[in-house]
Amino acid sequence: MGQIVAGLLAPHPPHLVYAENPEQNEPTAECGWEELRWSYERLRESLADIDYDTLVIHSPHWRTQIGTHFLAVDHFKSLSVDPIFPHLFRYNYDLKVDVDLAKKMEAAAKDAGLSTKLMTNPDFRVDYGTIVAGHMIRPEWDKPIVTMSSNGAARYYSMDVMQEQMTTLGKATARAIEESDKKVVLVASHSLSHRHYVIEPNPPEDMSKEHIDHHGQYLWDMKMIELMKAGKTQELFDLIPDFTEATVAETEAGGLSWMLQAMGMKDIKAKVHGYGTVIGTGNAVVEWRV
Ligand SMILES: [Fe+2]
Repeated sequence: MGQIVAGLLAPHPPHLVYAENPEQNEPTAECGWEELRWSYERLRESLADIDYDTLVIHSPHWRTQIGTHFLAVDHFKSLSVDPIFPHLFRYNYDLKVDVDLAKKMEAAAKDAGLSTKLMTNPDFRVDYGTIVAGHMIRPEWDKPIVTMSSNGAARYYSMDVMQEQMTTLGKATARAIEESDKKVVLVASHSLSHRHYVIEPNPPEDMSKEHIDHHGQYLWDMKMIELMKAGKTQELFDLIPDFTEATVAETEAGGLSWMLQAMGMKDIKAKVHGYGTVIGTGNAVVEWRV
């Protein structure tokens, strides 16, 4: 029987990969965003003692207008250029997909009444929410992944509809994993508060200019993190719509809601590996051991 062994909140600003200077990325940096990069270092150390087969990622930057799509091609290899930050992120990716698990998750979501589709185009460009989170969690890329898309339920309908859909998707994800023989780490790839400034310092990694966009956003981030640390999962889930409205957060895409539901809404006290800002947005690297 398969199982979910951990869940992660994994922010994906391309700045983090830029500042790491991996060989896959063309631009190079002097330094930058150490709080978050060292948070990811601690996460990688923590995951080193977990045995798992696949990373299952929910990404706000693979936006499908209707329903949930799942990557379902064995191997993707191409160049990913960030549309907003092409001077920071031009990353040569080469990744494997757990197609067997993707098909099981798609079938379970369809059975639960959701609109679904398998992405079988070999030339599909994998989104940077998948690539940045994937790189920061496991730079070796030696584990297969499955990415599922996010849809516009929150925008077209309301946050309540999104919460309902992610509840169904999360439960279906859990069922599919149970019925597989896979040990899985779930990843909600997104930041917390998402207001940001629009003038970039020169150089971009000038940390004397980096700070939270404003104090109100910081207070919201601290409230959400406090609930994660306390293991108050239902309260955390219920606060997601208000948090999203106040901070224009990427929780709008449903990643955190999906993951909490897939983990069975258990009151697990999360381990917060760290918090930091990127162009004013709030970001936390967080781990739940299931
Ligand atoms: Fe993003």
